Amino acid sequence: MFAVYADSFASSADDPLTGLVVGERPDPIAPDGWTTVTVKAASLNHHDLWSLRGVGLKAESLPMILGCDAAGYDEDGNEVVVHAVVSDPDWTGDETFDPRRSLLSERHQGTFADKVIVPRRNVVPKPASLSFAEAACLPTAWLTAYRMLFTQGDLKAGDTVLVQGAGGGVATALIALARAGGLRVLATSRDEAKRAKALELGAHEVYESGARLPVKVDAVMETVGRATWSHSIRALRPGGRIVISGTTSGPDLDDAELTRIFFLQLSVIGSTMGTRGELAALVNMLDSTGVRPVVDRVLPMTAARDGFAAMAAGDVFGKIVFTR
Ligand SMILES: NC(=O)c1ccc[n+]([C@@H]2O[C@H](COP(=O)([O-])OP(=O)(O)OC[C@H]3O[C@@H](n4cnc5c(N)ncnc54)[C@H](OP(=O)(O)O)[C@@H]3O)[C@@H](O)[C@H]2O)c1
Repeated sequence: MFAVYADSFASSADDPLTGLVVGERPDPIAPDGWTTVTVKAASLNHHDLWSLRGVGLKAESLPMILGCDAAGYDEDGNEVVVHAVVSDPDWTGDETFDPRRSLLSERHQGTFADKVIVPRRNVVPKPASLSFAEAACLPTAWLTAYRMLFTQGDLKAGDTVLVQGAGGGVATALIALARAGGLRVLATSRDEAKRAKALELGAHEVYESGARLPVKVDAVMETVGRATWSHSIRALRPGGRIVISGTTSGPDLDDAELTRIFFLQLSVIGSTMGTRGELAALVNMLDSTGVRPVVDRVLPMTAARDGFAAMAAGDVFGKIVFTR
């Protein structure tokens, strides 16, 4: 079958695409308890760039079909969204707490292909109101944003939230979901055009990255890491919380702002992906509110390399979707 996969790891972090192959891989065979999904659309995540750099993926797992996210048809012809978190068959409860969980494309082959196999419980019905391209944006970036805001962040209508790095896949989801959830939304971006788009998307106010804010916020949603951490801590009101799910600009900090963290009694909360139940709730939220994922561009999967290159260059506002 057609597939987009990693054949080797990039020799330099600056050129992550060297191990990327757009080609053919054998058809998967679903073991007992698993099902085959025919992929209609899949979306690109920063995770796929990390995989090409050898982060979270072992050399002995290569070649590995990339992609965490997909929407398509199950074996009975039903339209489904794939949940990307694969937990141990014996695990019960919140799948994100299973120490043996993995994401599609880490241990099990990913979604950038004609077909992907997943445990039967890893599919959620896709409502007719969402296109395959829109639904394919949900399992990683949008699910992560949902859990950051409403589960780990415990944010309620009327709270004020700051979203760092407005242009990203997770960040655009955070802005749209926070607005739909009744929050006051501040956002930062390095790029003026992206700041303008963030306003259109639902941010109440936008600022240059690192700019002094006129108010202190209840919570900051952080995916950028090193470049914005200090600003995030300084943006919080006493007792505020920072929810972090990524470190795009790097994990090492010059100043962790520890003094501020204890003196202002701030909370630092990690967040990763989301549960199947949260994915079903997110799908329901989009169906009932009319909020839709921000799609930067839709490319045929055969042109996947162009999408990877755009993400590596940071030339993205929202999600890049590949279709079959
Ligand atoms: N833990 C999880 O479950 C989970 C799930 C999804 C994603 N993630 C992580 O979250 C991060 C974002 O993922 P994504 O798919 O949304 O990536 P993305 O679409 O590539 O977005 C990254 C955003 O980060 C901002 N940024 C990058 N470098 C920056 C810098 N030096 N200074 C300021 N802002 C910078 C950019 O915003 P502007 O250009 O607007 O400034 C960019 O739009 C990644 O690190 C990813 O691995 C984690």
